[in-house]
Order: sequence, then structure tokens, then C-alpha cells
Amino acid sequence: MTMEIGTIIHRVRSCRSTNDLAEQLALAGELEGTVIIAEEQTKGRGTKGRSWYSVLGKGLYLSVILRPEGPNISLLPLVAGLAVREAVTSVTGLDVHLKWPNDLIWEKKKLGGILCESNFLGDRVNYVIVGIGLNLDHEPDDFPVEIRSFVSSLKIMTKRSVDRDLLFPCLWRSLNYWYGLFREGKNDEIVRAFEESMAVAKGKKMTVLRGESQISGLFAGIDSRGGLILEVGSERISFYSGEILTIEYG
Ligand code: BTN
Repeated sequence: MTMEIGTIIHRVRSCRSTNDLAEQLALAGELEGTVIIAEEQTKGRGTKGRSWYSVLGKGLYLSVILRPEGPNISLLPLVAGLAVREAVTSVTGLDVHLKWPNDLIWEKKKLGGILCESNFLGDRVNYVIVGIGLNLDHEPDDFPVEIRSFVSSLKIMTKRSVDRDLLFPCLWRSLNYWYGLFREGKNDEIVRAFEESMAVAKGKKMTVLRGESQISGLFAGIDSRGGLILEVGSERISFYSGEILTIEYG
């Protein structure tokens, strides 16, 4: 059974990671669309095995349970990124951008990120947990000193506190819209919108670090599976977010 995202919301004050809580609920059969929100995470996780700084009351820490039927779940980080960007733009009026595959960026600083974790039954997707972290009310001093120069928050951007009662309905609406396109197989529309939301234009020089290797080329867009395409000489190479990659611009 399918339900609109945001119809059922479980709120907790504190947990290790909302992705872990969502996973437990999904394994117990919780419906698609259920959301878990925490005020703090004691072991928030980011991509590439990193931790996600999740101090009490300052950020948005939530996870959504999805049970997509089709293939192409590699598009889901992009789907979630588009939704978060749209919600942030409509609440703040500021033009934030996406950095492939899952970073929300404002003036080159990271505002938020997405961690998608999937579970399969044989070759069928059982569930995907879409974890969303967004910096809301942090002042610069609230961030650990080692990340302070790379990150921002909606409060730093707008000089005022975000009204969560405005933000949440916008977020559910945008998530339902973009996930709806995904369910209808409108991958081209998702990919085009993602390309338009990126801070980097096609033709821009980019370097991808994959393990020990460093591949430089020109950014040529996003492919239909959500991969980043780099033009390297006469060749086009796609990279996928499951790989451990670092992207450098310019
Ligand atoms: C990234 O590294 O950019 C992804 C960060 C994702 C953080 C969110 S916060 C809610 C959910 N629970 C987690 O432990 N991580 C995600």
C-alpha cells in the first residue's frame, strides 16, 4: 500500500540515527511514506562512512521509508535533493544549488545532505531509507571548528530562525511531487531538473578522485541512471554515487 510522504510521522527527541530507526520500522513492515524525525542524533551518519553532526534542536534530521517498485533507485538521492532544494527555496526565497549526487549548497558551503540506504529481497527492492540532514538554526560557532569554513545553515543565510511549520509542509509537498515523477518513470524530467539545479554548468572542468586514480574532464551532464558524466578526450565516462568519489571543480 502506498501512502503520501508525511502522512505518518514518528517524532523522537534523541536517537542514534533516524536512518537506523527507519530501518527497524521498515523491517517490521512500516508503510511507504512514513517519516521519522529526531531533534538530535547521537550517531548521525553521512555518506562515505562519515559522521553527520547532529546537535540538539539546531538541524533537521529525518528519514523517509520508501518502497519503490521499479529499477533506477540510484535516482533517489537526486529525487530527494530536488525536493529539499525546492522546499528550502520556497521557504527562504534564496536560490540554493545541488552538488551531485546529494549535497545542498549555498555560496559554495554545504547546507544539507542525503543518505540513501537500500535493502533487497532477492533482486527486488524491499525498502529504501532516504535520510535528510539540513542545517537550520546553527550559528557559525555551533559547528565544530574543523568543518566551520565549509558549512552554512538557513539561519546564517537568512539571518533568522526557520519556521518549521512552514518548512515541513513544503518538504512533504516537494518530496511527493518528485517521488511521484520517479514512480511514473519520468527519469528524463528528474535528470533535466537536477542538471538545472546544479551550481556547475556543462563544459566546466571537473576532476573525480576514485580510489587512487584521478580523472579530469569536462562536465557533460547526468545520465538516465543518475550518474555523473565526464567527457574525457573522446570518451564519456559515467560515475555513480555508490562509489567512493570526491569531485573537484575547476
Ligand atoms: C551527507 O553526508 O551529505 C549525507 C548526510 C545525511 C544526514 C542525515 S540526518 C538524518 C539521517 N540520519 C542519518 O544518520 N543520516 C541522515
